[in-house]
Amino acid sequence: MTEEHLTSQEAVEGEEAVELSLRPQLLSQYIGQGHVKKDMEVYIQAARQRDEALDHVLLYGPPGLGKTTLAFVIANELGVNLKSTSGPAIERAGDLVALLTDLEPGDVLFIDEIHRLAKPVEEVLYSAMEDFYIDIVVGEGQTTHAIHLPLPPFTLIGATTLAGQLSAPLRDRFGIVEHMQYYQVEDLEKIILRSSEVFHTKISPQAAHELARRSRGTPRVANRLLKRVRDFAEVKGEKEISLETTAMALKQLQVDSAGLDQTDRKLLRTMILSYGGGPVGIRTLASNIGEDRETIESLYEPYLLQNGFIVMTPRGRVVTQKAYQQLNLPLPGEEE
Ligand SMILES: Nc1ncnc2c1ncn2[C@@H]1O[C@H](COP(=O)(O)OP(=O)(O)OP(=O)(O)O)[C@@H](O)[C@H]1O
Ligand SMILES: [Mg+2]
Repeated sequence: MTEEHLTSQEAVEGEEAVELSLRPQLLSQYIGQGHVKKDMEVYIQAARQRDEALDHVLLYGPPGLGKTTLAFVIANELGVNLKSTSGPAIERAGDLVALLTDLEPGDVLFIDEIHRLAKPVEEVLYSAMEDFYIDIVVGEGQTTHAIHLPLPPFTLIGATTLAGQLSAPLRDRFGIVEHMQYYQVEDLEKIILRSSEVFHTKISPQAAHELARRSRGTPRVANRLLKRVRDFAEVKGEKEISLETTAMALKQLQVDSAGLDQTDRKLLRTMILSYGGGPVGIRTLASNIGEDRETIESLYEPYLLQNGFIVMTPRGRVVTQKAYQQLNLPLPGEEE
């Protein structure tokens, strides 16, 4: 029993170590997101030259594009500590006060899923971000009084997959706002080649290209698929992951020729078969495919929109001809 526990614990630690080594440490090692990198290079250098805290940074974009990774790279380039937390983890204002008062000058506080901060917590953040102070109320009854507490200058890096859900006062307090984009196939290829080195696995250039093409423009997906494809290749006894094995593994994993996964296809299929191609509202769609609304809006929809499988109209999302073709379904009016 104990032994089993230990082994699984070790396995978890092994995974974390691999995840850590997959993450680039420096801006120069960070692949893709060219314009974000260019901006950040300048702002980081300027902050360093002035010996000041970097302005607050908001990173937004779909999951798995490297927001967390970039936050760590920024802190590393600044040569400061990073404290990491997430919106839902900060339950009360006091939790945030504890985090803020623990920072050293110039440190980075990283808040993931910042759109999910509780309102009272968010309000503490306003003065902390703007003027580096917080007002806290201490004592009870007759002894109640407010304390004006100055903070060391710090950098808040917020990450969100749903920028639209951020309140205006919070959004306005970020001096630097960067939109993370889906990766180009060439960049994903580089990420796959780098990851395969970390895994001590060889992969043919054609296989790397095919994997990159079918990774939904997302490094996290690329790394996950690479791990699975590597399993298939190892079982086959391949010394180098081949294109053939990659294609076979992706088929097994139900990733289609455009890189769409089962849920992408379920979403499109439901829109076509149950709603004549749309328009469909988000709530209807979410309950029909059994995914929560936030996941559809942050993860599935952006990719389908970007790649022209759906379009957004004032009355809801509508599938395009490209979607019918990808799913091999007859266009409306073409059914016999
Ligand atoms: N530019 C990059 N170069 C190399 N690897 C990357 C890059 N960006 C992300 N990765 C890898 O992709 C994975 C996901 O990245 P990360 O966790 O930073 O994404 P995220 O945007 O924070 O996602 P989420 O929104 O789900 O928190 C990690 O394994 C990371 O190593
Ligand atoms: Mg993250």
